[in-house]
Amino acid sequence: MDLQGLKLAVVGATGAVGQETLRLIAARYPTHTNLKLLASRRSAGRRIDVNGKTFTVGETTDDSFDDVDLVFISARTEDSRRFGPVAAAAGAMVIDDSSAFRMDPGVPLVVPEVNGDDLDWHDGIVSIPNCSTTPLVMVAHPLRQASPIRRIIADTYQSVSGAGGAAMNELRHQTRTVMHGGPAAPDAQPQQIAFNVFPHIDSFTESGYTREEQKMIDESRKILHAPEIAVSATCVRVPVFVSHCVAAHLEFAEPVAAGEARELLRRMPGVTVQDDPAASVYPMPVDAAGCDDVFVGRIRKDASHPNGLAMWVVTDNLVKGAALNALQIAEHAVARGAVHGKRS
Ligand SMILES: NC(=O)c1ccc[n+]([C@@H]2O[C@H](COP(=O)([O-])OP(=O)(O)OC[C@H]3O[C@@H](n4cnc5c(N)ncnc54)[C@H](OP(=O)(O)O)[C@@H]3O)[C@@H](O)[C@H]2O)c1
Repeated sequence: MDLQGLKLAVVGATGAVGQETLRLIAARYPTHTNLKLLASRRSAGRRIDVNGKTFTVGETTDDSFDDVDLVFISARTEDSRRFGPVAAAAGAMVIDDSSAFRMDPGVPLVVPEVNGDDLDWHDGIVSIPNCSTTPLVMVAHPLRQASPIRRIIADTYQSVSGAGGAAMNELRHQTRTVMHGGPAAPDAQPQQIAFNVFPHIDSFTESGYTREEQKMIDESRKILHAPEIAVSATCVRVPVFVSHCVAAHLEFAEPVAAGEARELLRRMPGVTVQDDPAASVYPMPVDAAGCDDVFVGRIRKDASHPNGLAMWVVTDNLVKGAALNALQIAEHAVARGAVHGKRS
């Protein structure tokens, strides 16, 4: 069996990640039309074309999953909490994009190139990580071959698409308004995003970190199976439409040469090294948008620590940061025999 033979549902098919999921399904399975497109009542009845067939979006209800083999949920966290267990109980494998189950010890949190083996113990639901965690672990994982990682400091520059379609529209409209002297009037985001940056993604916790930052800390350790790694993050929203950047500082048990790191990263599937600063070659959001890979450059000795490396990591948050990672999980799970089609 492969993904082509399974009935797939996309919950949140009208959203930023859902739309990317449909684009990737069409790109990877150009004849696949055994799909169910779901969203909230607001979008029920909307028509969306995939692989030459027109689908009508349905309202997501508890009965939506009886005829479905595999469900991608990219809606709000509360929708995942409600519909994830319902879909799993109906016998479908659920791949969830939200933070609802990520830190649940009974739910694997998976980036296939890093911890694909964790798919073997799923119990119906698998989570994908936060869109900045995925690129971070994609570069941290191969570098562990050189020396164990002791500490990671990750400072992010995250695009508005990380906050969904409404935040993208807000950047578009707000930029025009502010350019013409009008008020910014933030709505989908906590602050003005046009011509501004702010260190506030998700809500603040008592520790002073935001939940987004805490996700990077907790999720990286879970995926890497390394609770001993000290992690700190500062997550910042920038006025870019697509792709997240991470300035990452990794401290190892022993010194690791930049050249060795470059070589290990070159060999990592899903990672592309773009590192020729003299020729102004380094990853940027405009180049990474629409691409599958995690891009890494500016790899250098960290001047502040003898065992440290600094680097700059960029990835399309809607592709490898969300929809592609989810689809790859499905493909890996099918290949490992961890998905059982209802009709087969
Ligand atoms: N954006 C990213 O880079 C990214 C990366 C990794 C993970 N994620 C996660 O992916 C999820 C979706 O994010 P997004 O950026 O795609 O958000 P979005 O653009 O705001 O889309 C949200 C989707 O959820 C649907 N929805 C809302 N209420 C629903 C309900 N009651 N039942 C079913 N569907 C409902 C919406 O449908 P309507 O059209 O009916 O409103 C829409 O399709 C979130 O959990 C997010 O944390 C996002």
